[in-house]
Amino acid sequence: MTKTLNEQKLEVAKTAIQHIPIGSIIGVGTGSTANYFIDELAKVKNKINGAVASSDNTAQRLKSHYIEVLDLNNVNDIPVYVDGADEITEHLHMIKGGGGALTREKIVSATAKKFICITDESKLVNVLGEFPLPIEVIPMARSYVAREIVQLGGHPVLREKFTTDNGNVILDVHGLKILNPIELEVALNQITGIVTNGLFAKRSADILLLGTNNGVRTITI
Ligand code: A5P
Repeated sequence: MTKTLNEQKLEVAKTAIQHIPIGSIIGVGTGSTANYFIDELAKVKNKINGAVASSDNTAQRLKSHYIEVLDLNNVNDIPVYVDGADEITEHLHMIKGGGGALTREKIVSATAKKFICITDESKLVNVLGEFPLPIEVIPMARSYVAREIVQLGGHPVLREKFTTDNGNVILDVHGLKILNPIELEVALNQITGIVTNGLFAKRSADILLLGTNNGVRTITI
């Protein structure tokens, strides 16, 4: 029987719960797969000490389940961060930010000991870049940053009617075939006006729980 992508998302969300240390504070990502995870987390909420959210939407959903949401500045130790991805390779490099939460996702995941990525099988790719790379930009730098990105060979498109939780805009960069994700991640972040880009390669995932028709496949580096 074929599993739908949503069934795969639910399955990886349930599996991720098994990776959560009892009594810890959990970093929680953003998006439809992360939402499945939040709903599963709600079932074991008495076993954790709270969560740090990577977006306002995630904070709201956690709170709706009466899971305590903590300010990252008041938390020293996040053993596990759980989040989805828009694309991921077997090297566990990712494109994220389809939902526009990339900067806070990058901050929370940077502080976490382990990044567990949960996705359905459609997200696994050989080369990153078919999914347009989201870049969060300070609004006044939008045109300058766009011109710089064109120099790098990308085609930036302003995400219409969208403002990030940080009050910035998103440029979605089309036409990139990202063979060196770490290099590109670093190069993009050198452009003045970019807050951050959606490549998660310098800090990749540590574990991928990949939904498939035959159950959850675990990929580590
Ligand atoms: C949010 O900004 C993104 O980084 C999400 O983690 C990513 O878009 C995956 O979302 P879905 O789980 O909805 O595919």
